[in-house]
Amino acid sequence: MPEMTTQKMLQIQAKIVSNTQVAENYFKMCLDAPLVAQKAEPGQFIYIKTSNNYKPLLRRAFSIHSIGYRLLVIGYRQKRQSQSQKPNTLELLYKVRGIGTEILAEKKAGEELDIIGPLGKGFNIISNIKYQKSKIILIGGGIGIAPLVFLSEKLTKSKIKNQKSKITVLLGAETKEKILCKNDFEKLGCEVKIATEDGSQGFKGKVTELLAKGLLAISHLPASPAWLGGPFAIYACGPTPMLKEIAQISQRNKIPCQVSLEEKMACGIGACRGCVIKVKNYKDEENFIYKRVCKDGPVFDAQEIIW
Ligand SMILES: Cc1cc2nc3c(=O)[nH]c(=O)nc-3n(C[C@H](O)[C@H](O)[C@H](O)COP(=O)(O)OP(=O)(O)OC[C@H]3O[C@@H](n4cnc5c(N)ncnc54)[C@H](O)[C@@H]3O)c2cc1C
Ligand code: FES
Repeated sequence: MPEMTTQKMLQIQAKIVSNTQVAENYFKMCLDAPLVAQKAEPGQFIYIKTSNNYKPLLRRAFSIHSIGYRLLVIGYRQKRQSQSQKPNTLELLYKVRGIGTEILAEKKAGEELDIIGPLGKGFNIISNIKYQKSKIILIGGGIGIAPLVFLSEKLTKSKIKNQKSKITVLLGAETKEKILCKNDFEKLGCEVKIATEDGSQGFKGKVTELLAKGLLAISHLPASPAWLGGPFAIYACGPTPMLKEIAQISQRNKIPCQVSLEEKMACGIGACRGCVIKVKNYKDEENFIYKRVCKDGPVFDAQEIIW
């Protein structure tokens, strides 16, 4: 039962359905959280109390990786929630980094977690529906792919569903072992391009180089590579240096671009101002203003940010 609610946000005890290691240091967790799943939008996150004591004191933020329709067991009867029914689970994809994620990785199915969500402002899909003929490019670096699966699910189910062949996902990682979710995107009908820094799979180099190379090819060649038939909209999530480069590339090429930022957070709900970033002040171009990643983001227009 909800303990605390605002208009959209809930605090609940969510039962862990599964918590599985999917690669070295990477886990997927499925939570039974119907009320949060039904409100969630791609790009939003949940804020998890990883422990019942004060170590760690602060909650940890995780993007909503996917929402699902879990088998319901009612007495002797089993009933599958169909896609037309409301979602009842949340999936997270997380990387073990420190104390909070180490505790999460030890959690077992059946245990409960105190979560707050859905939080923040997600990707703006509505405005992009007007780009009906757009090529949509999703770019994920490392664990930054986490929110992009939910986004591609939503894009393929939205009014752009007939355009799903036009969604290309660029995945970047250090090595092929660290490429995650390729199958998830392909199952949704997206085209997937891979960049690994050591060249063990796909393009050798950074995912930003793969993007820039493709865009440069278009401006020089009469026929553009098939995966880059513009015009475009870009959605990206990953480390800040990667997002900064993508913002510069998209600005040079005049491509609308939204980025999802990761910033260390304290309250997670917009009260402490501990997660602010500098953004342009369109009323006074000499100056800037601060915006909160947890409340005004984590998704921002890439050109709004002062990098
Ligand atoms: C909106 C948002 C969405 C996120 N989504 C995901 C997700 O889907 N999957 C996932 O694995 N992680 C995600 N993160 C990052 C996740 O919150 C951190 O990995 C987690 O808080 C680390 O906690 P910890 O106690 O394990 O590590 P800590 O012991 O707190 O830190 C370990 C190391 O990780 C670094 N670190 C910690 N938090 C962050 C952060 N927020 N950004 C960058 N570096 C950090 C620290 O500087 C330190 O070097 C997200 C963060 C935000 C703000
Ligand atoms: S974490 Fe407190 S305002 Fe963002």
